[in-house]
Amino acid sequence: MKLTSARLFVFVFALSVVLLFPSPSSESKQATNVEARVNALLAKMTLEEKLGQLQQLDGEGEGNYRPEHVELLKKGVLGSTLNVRGAKKTNELQRVAVEQSRLKIPNLFGYDVIHGYRTIFPIPLAEASSWDPSVAERSASIAASEAYATGLRWTFAPMVDIARDPRWGRITEGAGEDTFLGSAFARARVLGFQGRDYSAPGKILACAKHYVAYGAAEGGRDYNTTDMSEQRLREVYLPPFHAAVDAGVGTLMSAFNDLNGVPASGNPFTLTKILRGEWKFDGFVVSDYNSVLELISHGLAGNNHDAAEAGLNAGVDMEMVSRLYNENGATLLKEGKVSQATIDEAVRRILRIKFRLGLFEHPYVDEAAENSSILTAANRAAAREASGKSMVLLKNDRGTLPLNKTISSLAVIGPLADDPRAPMGFWSADGKDTDTVTALAGIRAKVSPQTKVTYAKGCDITGDSTSGFDEAVNAARQADIALVFAGEAKEMVGEAASRSSLDLPGKQMDLLKAIHATGKPTILVLINGRPPTIGWAVDNVPAILEAWMGGTEAGNAIADVLFGDVNPGGKLPVTFPRTVGQVPLYYNHMNTGRPPVADVRWNSKYIDGPWTPQFPFGFGLSYTQFKISDLQLSAPTIRPDGRLNVSVNVQNTGQRAGDEVVQLYIRDVAASMTRPVKELKGFKRITLKPGETQRVEFTLGPDHLGFYNREMKYVVEPGEFKVFVGSSSEDVIEKSFVVR
Ligand code: GLC
Repeated sequence: MKLTSARLFVFVFALSVVLLFPSPSSESKQATNVEARVNALLAKMTLEEKLGQLQQLDGEGEGNYRPEHVELLKKGVLGSTLNVRGAKKTNELQRVAVEQSRLKIPNLFGYDVIHGYRTIFPIPLAEASSWDPSVAERSASIAASEAYATGLRWTFAPMVDIARDPRWGRITEGAGEDTFLGSAFARARVLGFQGRDYSAPGKILACAKHYVAYGAAEGGRDYNTTDMSEQRLREVYLPPFHAAVDAGVGTLMSAFNDLNGVPASGNPFTLTKILRGEWKFDGFVVSDYNSVLELISHGLAGNNHDAAEAGLNAGVDMEMVSRLYNENGATLLKEGKVSQATIDEAVRRILRIKFRLGLFEHPYVDEAAENSSILTAANRAAAREASGKSMVLLKNDRGTLPLNKTISSLAVIGPLADDPRAPMGFWSADGKDTDTVTALAGIRAKVSPQTKVTYAKGCDITGDSTSGFDEAVNAARQADIALVFAGEAKEMVGEAASRSSLDLPGKQMDLLKAIHATGKPTILVLINGRPPTIGWAVDNVPAILEAWMGGTEAGNAIADVLFGDVNPGGKLPVTFPRTVGQVPLYYNHMNTGRPPVADVRWNSKYIDGPWTPQFPFGFGLSYTQFKISDLQLSAPTIRPDGRLNVSVNVQNTGQRAGDEVVQLYIRDVAASMTRPVKELKGFKRITLKPGETQRVEFTLGPDHLGFYNREMKYVVEPGEFKVFVGSSSEDVIEKSFVVR
């Protein structure tokens, strides 16, 4: 075809139109398509079918569905089940919904896959100790693939509650006391479970919980009242949820706790003003188990009818287990207490997520693939690696660790040494304790055939009996080294497991003392789910390893670390107090007008013991040593909207390769509101060979330097800021800069 100038003009014009006004991307086309499908379906639904979508009911312990589920799904009046699982069972129930109901809306199968489905990974608090979000992302991704294979499409995870009180048993489920670290892990876990498109095979819908401030329970007592300023809510407890929303989380779970007098499951300020109004979250909120019904116990509602009204109008879309929405929805609508728009919007949000999940196109799971996706060697290997990266070396005098694999004799002692349940943690989904590699098994597999390994339980995890001490002491006497495993039972952490003491339960500390009294080198390994108070051990035992509840492969990972195949590089994501009387004790506290000073009476400290932690936030040793030096700032002053580059040298000055977590903290020295003495605003876990030096860089900007002022505006105020960089929140070098 002859290219005339006219044709050239038309071609160029057409091209520019296309380039200037591209057709909607496939993503936005898909979004429009989803909205159209949601609204088309909604328009067909009866009120009963709409209320049905707002209902989630519980399955049976072993994952079976109930006859009632079949009836309700046939009538199209059930939206979701929890705990129903197994490819065959979920397909059976799904066929009722998809093939027998009028509108064929698929059921959404949810379950608590918190840190693994069948391959159990280290508890989330342990994974946070890795300070490597990619560890958590990978664990969540593997958990998703195993859960997906069993017909599940939704997990009630990640738990992103900030916790500053180790008495609270659910500290085990989150990422500890810090908002910046907690936000990084929230993002990582959402991406691990969901990927970038949770309709993809092997991906499942995530659920950021428990919205919000559940971890601030007074007295560390689960389900207890939380009460705080809006500043604290916005600066400490909300950001990890915001991070999850920004990462695309499809659902949130509203919490049990009373929040400033308005329970979280009936709180329009958090559920609608912030979550929808400010964050533009367009997924749905599921209540916690009966938490809508519990609005009556809280005293926010006088009866089921009022509780349903409070939950619906606040913005809780799906009701877990209690049935107040279905029992009272029609009446509330008739009375004008709840609008049709409110009900429709709740249904719309749920349908939107079901469409995004691809549930309408792919409601079933491949039963043939179920078993080959679960507890694979690769998944076990990933769990082992995650556990090794999560361990924190708390003490290692005179290079007691690592041990030599050809050591002639070892005494392995304590009730946690061969306990297959504790390493699984509180939420262990369909993990089986028969799958667990215990510490004893891991050590036996690791040492040379010539090494004599003797095991003595010594005592139970709880209880006062010391009848097993003699056997344990004799075992220690006949060995070169004694390894004492102590900590908590599976049931002593997690939900409804608050403790008023943080001491090692039972006679475990006495057992440790008895073993230490033999004069044999004694090493303490902790298998637990919360910070413990272990002062005597810290003062007397040469080496202490925080191994946490490390999952299915815990024993192999512990052996990897004890014998040096893995050099521990974890750091504490939560402060370890000396005594429970110090709690709450956290690093990012305000300075007060009278900060504690030794040997001066009139200031903020105790007259009967130290005010300092046993181990600070961010603390952790290595089998090698590191030197952090040459802190440089890119400018002495920046504008409030400016950026500042911060860099340091990190050198491995020891004899073996190892990981260091370089941590960046700031302090806003003087502002219109008091600011914490330190705030984590950057971290990087790096691996260095012996002698190697790396330059590590961070960037600080307004989103690091700002805070909510008295008018609740997020501002960066002019003035002096300190920058701290180091290997823990206390071991730092510092410089200052000015925001002008
Ligand atoms: C529990 C927990 C919540 C869990 C839900 C379903 O009470 O608070 O974390 O996801 O009920 O099991």
